[in-house]
Amino acid sequence: IGNKIIYFDTIDSTNNYSKRIAKDAAHGTVIISEEQSGGRGRLGRNWISPKGEGIWMSIVLKPDIPPTEGMKMTQIAAAAVCNAIRGVTGLEAFIKWPNDLVVNGKKVCGILTEMAGELTRIDYLIVGIGINANNESFLEEFQHIATSLAKEKGEKVDRKTLILHLLKEFEGLYEDYINQGTLEKTLAIIRNYSAVLGKSILVIRGEQQLKATVLGIDEEGLLEVKYEDGKRELLMSGEVSIRGE
Ligand code: BTN
Repeated sequence: IGNKIIYFDTIDSTNNYSKRIAKDAAHGTVIISEEQSGGRGRLGRNWISPKGEGIWMSIVLKPDIPPTEGMKMTQIAAAAVCNAIRGVTGLEAFIKWPNDLVVNGKKVCGILTEMAGELTRIDYLIVGIGINANNESFLEEFQHIATSLAKEKGEKVDRKTLILHLLKEFEGLYEDYINQGTLEKTLAIIRNYSAVLGKSILVIRGEQQLKATVLGIDEEGLLEVKYEDGKRELLMSGEVSIRGE
């Protein structure tokens, strides 16, 4: 992973570019851009990606796993970013299941995993990672929910060091998953540094918002929750969005 790195000064979106080249790209190709003019977030949102401030990157993967397992790449990426941020900056990053990272309660990273293929086979997976590394200011509407590593640490972060650390972590956890067939190491990180375990959350499904308590994260990486009426459920990443209370 990361044997080939394609670097841009500016691009629409590293995920979009990855899609355009994915068919011919080698497994593990990494795309990085200083700036994205059309950065995308989950749920069709925009992802603000100013020049030189963040880490805007995508990893193209071609694993031989069924599409139902594809979202595990999000968990692997979240665990890898969490360890990398902690290792490089010393900041206490936590994982807000399934695909956000927070520092001091505010978002510093989002992950957007996209997949192409058939019912039984993955053609390729694109793991898009956006890290607010050195951003100095945020739009007013995001100020209370988003922050950057530099803001929290009080000094700039060396992006290259963070990227290399992150790719190494990702590769280790990815290989472990492919070889073992389980998410063991990834889950240990996700549980250890979870921002939601034991907490009360709001589960957002379409128009509905339901209060729930997080009981655990199961072997598949699914979130075990208990609603106010006592009903329990296992949530899959992608089908819900959660909000801290
Ligand atoms: C989210 O939290 O909604 C996910 C944000 C993902 C942003 C990254 S930045 C690199 C890659 N390219 C994109 O257009 N999006 C992802």
